[in-house]
Amino acid sequence: MIIVVGGIKGGSGKTTVATNLAVIRAKKGSDLLLIDADDQETSSDFTILRNEQQESGAGYTSIKLTGAAVRTETKKLSSKYQDIVIDTGGRDTTSQRAALTIADILLVPFVPRSFDVWTLEKVSTLVSELKIVNPNLQASAFINRADSAGRDNQLAAEIIRETEELSFIDTPLGSRKAFSNAAARGLAVTELKPLDKKAEREMMNLYRYIFEIIKV
Ligand SMILES: Nc1ncnc2c1ncn2[C@@H]1O[C@H](COP(=O)(O)OP(=O)(O)O)[C@@H](O)[C@H]1O
Ligand SMILES: [Mg+2]
Repeated sequence: MIIVVGGIKGGSGKTTVATNLAVIRAKKGSDLLLIDADDQETSSDFTILRNEQQESGAGYTSIKLTGAAVRTETKKLSSKYQDIVIDTGGRDTTSQRAALTIADILLVPFVPRSFDVWTLEKVSTLVSELKIVNPNLQASAFINRADSAGRDNQLAAEIIRETEELSFIDTPLGSRKAFSNAAARGLAVTELKPLDKKAEREMMNLYRYIFEIIKV
């Protein structure tokens, strides 16, 4: 399965989600490739750190690709790996479009307070354009950095539901220090000690939705 974590907003949690899904999936026994298609190389930095910290290594393979190579190289590698997770940058780039031509799933984190309907509309347009070359592309959005109180989450969910090419995945990630603490140590949030059980549960719910419910 090829999963692109994307969208056109920076700081929405793409790298956090891409690296967590990669670590968790690999630990479940999948031969996994994490592709860093963002020039900022945050997920590559995470993997370098993880390789240093973990005695047994990162647990997955990581490469950097950019531009049209995201399509051509990923295509070649797709038969060699069980799962591929592609982390993209926060803009509508050639790299992200290239990734979407060969993806099964586009996963878009959406931060409620940034309430930017136009951003989602642009993602929707992007998906409809890419579906011409990749009709099987499934695009879903979920709420990241959910507020613990207030109506923002509900409003954000409504906006996603109303966005044509996006389906809403009801597996929010709360705004929790554990996510950044884990990333800073090269860990998935499920590996952090002491464990933040809420963060773990949220990430596992998202993981299960992607790999056990949507699974293509
Ligand atoms: N649910 C969350 N709770 C708290 N911090 C988060 C959460 N998701 C992401 N972050 C933090 O927000 C920052 C941006 O996240 P990142 O995954 O790098 O976004 P992107 O890759 O979309 O630019 C990072 O410092 C990350 O640790
Ligand atoms: Mg990133």
